[in-house]
Amino acid sequence: MSVGKHTAHDAGPLHVTGAARYTDDIPTPRGTLHLAFGLSTIARGKITSMDLDAVRKADGVLDVLVADDLPHDNDVSPSIHDEPLLATGRVHYLGQPLFLVVATSHLAARKAARRAQVEYTEETPLLTIDHAMAAKSHFEDGPRIYTKGDPDGALAGAANRLQGRVEIGGQEHFYLEGHAALAVPQDNGDMVVHASSQHPTEIQHKVAEAIGTPMHAVRVEVRRMGGGFGGKESQGNALCVACAVVAQKHRAPVKMRYDRDDDMIVTGKRHEFRIDYDVGFDDTGRITAVDFTQYARCGWAQDLSLPVADRAMLHADNAYNLDHARITSHRLKTNTQSNTAFRGFGGPQGIVGIERVMDHIAHHLGLDPLQVRRENFYASMVGGADASPLSDAAHRLPAMGGNISEAMKSGAAHEDLTSRGAAPAGGGEVHVAPEPQTTPYGMKVTDSIICEMVDALEVSSDYQARRKAVAAWNDKNPVLKRGIALTPVKFGISFTLTHLNQAGALVHVYQDGSIHLNHGGTEMGQGLFTKVAQVAAQSFGVPLDAVKITATDTGKVPNTSATAASSGSDLNGMAVLNACETIKARIGTVLSEGEVRFEEGRVRFDGTELSFAEAAAKAYQNRVSLSATGFYATPDVEWDRIKGHGRPFFYFAYGAAVTEVVVDTLTGENRILRADILHDCGRSLNPALDIGQIEGGYVQGVGWLTTEELVWDDKGRLTTHAPATYKIPAASDRPEVFNVALWDGANRAETVFKSKAVGEPPLMHGISAWLALSDAVSACGDGYPDLDAPATAERVLMACQKLRA
Ligand code: MTE
Ligand code: MOS
Repeated sequence: MSVGKHTAHDAGPLHVTGAARYTDDIPTPRGTLHLAFGLSTIARGKITSMDLDAVRKADGVLDVLVADDLPHDNDVSPSIHDEPLLATGRVHYLGQPLFLVVATSHLAARKAARRAQVEYTEETPLLTIDHAMAAKSHFEDGPRIYTKGDPDGALAGAANRLQGRVEIGGQEHFYLEGHAALAVPQDNGDMVVHASSQHPTEIQHKVAEAIGTPMHAVRVEVRRMGGGFGGKESQGNALCVACAVVAQKHRAPVKMRYDRDDDMIVTGKRHEFRIDYDVGFDDTGRITAVDFTQYARCGWAQDLSLPVADRAMLHADNAYNLDHARITSHRLKTNTQSNTAFRGFGGPQGIVGIERVMDHIAHHLGLDPLQVRRENFYASMVGGADASPLSDAAHRLPAMGGNISEAMKSGAAHEDLTSRGAAPAGGGEVHVAPEPQTTPYGMKVTDSIICEMVDALEVSSDYQARRKAVAAWNDKNPVLKRGIALTPVKFGISFTLTHLNQAGALVHVYQDGSIHLNHGGTEMGQGLFTKVAQVAAQSFGVPLDAVKITATDTGKVPNTSATAASSGSDLNGMAVLNACETIKARIGTVLSEGEVRFEEGRVRFDGTELSFAEAAAKAYQNRVSLSATGFYATPDVEWDRIKGHGRPFFYFAYGAAVTEVVVDTLTGENRILRADILHDCGRSLNPALDIGQIEGGYVQGVGWLTTEELVWDDKGRLTTHAPATYKIPAASDRPEVFNVALWDGANRAETVFKSKAVGEPPLMHGISAWLALSDAVSACGDGYPDLDAPATAERVLMACQKLRA
């Protein structure tokens, strides 16, 4: 068995020894040229003159290009053609590339770029959500609105009503490997590009447009990224296009890499959001209607902002069944970096909105927020493919609070969880929906396991006892206050742009039985290559080391989607399985007319067996092809983003987290004491990698909502453009006690070995840390803390002071 094993990341030893080769480590051919962009120093205005003489005369400089020097398309946008590689007269944000320096070294190019004399007529930039709303600066014609039921009527008739606002900051990706590209010209004007990109096909497409060739003349290769997190879905286009254009012009290899500060100043980030809410609810906390207005700061170009803002709308319900809801979404165009994909792709912001609402309602009613959440959860459905996942799953749930990896290995069961009735506080309720329940966008929720998961986590995290202990602690301690919060996640899996839900693979079996594996997904540290190799090994019944993992290559698998939307293993795993099945069927016809089984490194048929290598050799001698492509398209998804109706997702991934924090209310400093996460990966392809994704996602989510603060000055200059001023979590910020467990029920949808996507959903467990901080602050007084994100120490302190005043 390969699938389901705790297998280490294939490049783990290379990562930790520094031997893993990234784009910048590829040995460059003799005569390689180096590039740097000259960046705008204002956020908005017209360029009146650009004197580049000093740049041209600088040491090592061979050439300087402006927009007019580009031979073909001047565009690096992944969506509409609104993103010039080099500015054409107007400047849209501070940091926009204006010209391109070609030099003999990286340093020479960067130094020379600073010597330009550029004059502008400045205009007042639109920097904030307020600026953009006042100027009616929208993408699309105006707001998009999704409605379910009669929110206005239900709000008017509600027993209780609250309004509020939450501001949610953006986030820098801070991949450890910055953006980098290398273009190597070939015979006949062909181009090979080595990219650090989640989307090699997009790079191929944009490079072909820029150098004026069909896509067949461009081959893009990506072995790995040192992190992408969505920041390398579209933001690598500029570097790759720049390298290819100069490589074509100078007939030389060309390389470009952003310095960290430039990377932060030039590229887009997670969208900053404001969410206004108006909610009606009964005395138990059950929501009767909610009206959300989401404001997304998209930056200067459209990039992926529309689907990001859509996904925020699609997650405004999170795990809650809303009868009457309206979600209004403003996509605002501002003179700042063009915001882009970032783990969760808008989903996290939408979920923060409704989790704030739950917390606010609970505070207002004086109830345990968990109880309010329970009043609103999507119920489990009867009669699904996997009708009683609890009894099935409970025995697989490892004991938490102790050593999780040991528990996972021994498969130890949590003794309190042998039946639903054993779970306290709500565990006795029967969470069954008689009628199909739908999301605000009309999709039936038939796979909810949120009630069962939260029941299980409540027990394993000892939530109720710890909540009492927190209250007792806060009664006794005037300065150090504790807080605890449990938050759920339901995350939709699939690209909302339906046609992207496809993938291809290429598998070769050699005569010695070794296997060459290729597919359209990219490796960014998430372990996709290992998982897909496990799938191939499982299918052929061979050990994992019989499978060679190879770089993503547009010449091997064409027309791929970005490795994104968490669906890398769902899509590419299935495509690979499809290719393997084709080859097995061909080998089978050579061996027998009966059943042929591939298992334990053997091929068994007609009461006899061969080694896999012998079977491969036999097929070869019989002139049977041992190479196959594979293909997969996700079934059953269709979505109308204008109407806001349909089934955008193949299934949902679920999870829940409990975080406990302590806050020094005199300084705002705080720390996480303990985090417990129970997460649904379906039948995990690789629990070790999945747990890694869950831990990393949580920590990244906590960073987003607590310490990572992006600050622009009133000229539109990003002042937090390096680790000295932008604080990502460090190893020491990891929770002191960190229990992660997998909910191991099979996916009810037909996915690869019944697994579920895991890349993005765990990020949203970080919301429990933000609300735990809010809980701790609320011990300072009677009011509701109203914490914005990120809840930096400074904001926490101000919130404490406000409640005490
Ligand atoms: N994990 C690591 N280590 N590095 C990354 O860059 N990106 C995340 C997530 N986990 C990322 C990661 C994002 S944004 C996505 S969409 C998924 O991985 C993509 O990979 P998958 O589809 O194979 O899960
Ligand atoms: Mo992930 S934001 O879909 O690359």
